[in-house]
Amino acid sequence: MPAKNMEELVALCKRRGFIFQSSEIYGGLQGTYDFGPLGVELKNNIKNAWWEAMVYENDDIEGLDSSILTNPLVLGYSGHEDTFSDPMVDCKSCGLRFRADQVPKECKPEDLTEPRQFNLMFKTNVGPIDDGSSFAYLRPETAQQIFTNFKNVIDSTSKPIPFGIAQIGKAFRNEITPRNFIFRVREFEQMELEYFVMPGEDEKSHDKWVQKRLEWWNNQGVPTKSIELYDVPTEELAHYSKKTIDLMYKFPHGLEELEGIANRTDFDLGSHSKKQNELNIGSSVKENKHSNSKMAVQDDSGKWVVPFVIEPSAGVERGFLAILNESYFVEELENDKTRIVLRLKPHLSPVKAAVIPLKKNNTELVEAAKNIKNELQKIGLGRVIFENTGNIGKSYRKHDEIGTPVCITVDFQTLEDGSVTLRDRDSMEQKRIDIDDLNNYLIKLINH
Ligand code: GLY
Repeated sequence: MPAKNMEELVALCKRRGFIFQSSEIYGGLQGTYDFGPLGVELKNNIKNAWWEAMVYENDDIEGLDSSILTNPLVLGYSGHEDTFSDPMVDCKSCGLRFRADQVPKECKPEDLTEPRQFNLMFKTNVGPIDDGSSFAYLRPETAQQIFTNFKNVIDSTSKPIPFGIAQIGKAFRNEITPRNFIFRVREFEQMELEYFVMPGEDEKSHDKWVQKRLEWWNNQGVPTKSIELYDVPTEELAHYSKKTIDLMYKFPHGLEELEGIANRTDFDLGSHSKKQNELNIGSSVKENKHSNSKMAVQDDSGKWVVPFVIEPSAGVERGFLAILNESYFVEELENDKTRIVLRLKPHLSPVKAAVIPLKKNNTELVEAAKNIKNELQKIGLGRVIFENTGNIGKSYRKHDEIGTPVCITVDFQTLEDGSVTLRDRDSMEQKRIDIDDLNNYLIKLINH
């Protein structure tokens, strides 16, 4: 699928209430966005689809929701304090600061300072004294608290290895140059799985997770043929990774990472473990003088082993943008008209169905439509809305644009025989159906 125009996607997001610039009335705050009435639904649906595919469909995966504020020791031992940085240069001519690999052509090389490392983590003061003596980091990845909770989860659930811990939540990075709409932002959400395996099982598990993640994206409307696998070269690997496969997607602004699937080896559990010298840790880890937990399990022979970690890590906002890009179409209609349609997979649609009375001021039609909305809402498939604009054509156009898979029109025949008109988003075809059959119709449509 060719990439769409970013401006068109941004305009749709603002016009229909998917995404707004954050703090917009005060000029915004760079690298932050707010998700509006439809954006929050789409985002929640993406997250729910991920959670279901991870936690509910796999009995060897458990969920977690850990804190954003993070003890600096966690990010000291994880290596983030030392290495989670970008090289940065200042332009003496324009006075602006750029990532060393993203200097605009207008800045001349002779005007640039030598690159300096700039740590991407946000710090915040903790407690009443603001003198820097007591601070926490806003987590730069959700992964670290999964590692620090490894023993808690394993002890409370009695899981044998292999098993995984899944988490969805906010992460923060002080990007020097946030850009490309919601692609590179300072505050974002991650969907991360840390899957723990015995050493030696890691490469096979890594391959398996690459395939599983491609399937998942395909189920969300981002087909496998739209994704390129990038085997990240050694010099570009994150400090914890032995091998990373990035799923690269052609976003409107170019081919970029949608998700990274890393083999983090025994680096993380090894880094956070006490008694490291009693464990046969293969990675190069900092000596840990603070941890009170042995991050290891006993194998069949009773020997302590530090599990390896396979990590599929996806950004919710990047997924949102890819899904939007894949589903956005401008279609030519008869009479030289066009329509914008979001062909979202129904389980992701912000609104599952709109119930529309033919006449805005007809009490019987309005009551019948409200009853249908209330009944459909009870099935629990997501948001169903009662839409009383009095303009059916305009309502259909709006629901095409926001990806509502079906509109249900209540007319005078409904009052006579209990049937309604169903109008399909993609084919625009209309058919009549009994109100009694609506529940099953919607369940099938959304779950298929
Ligand atoms: N946990 C991997 C990442 O944040 O990129």
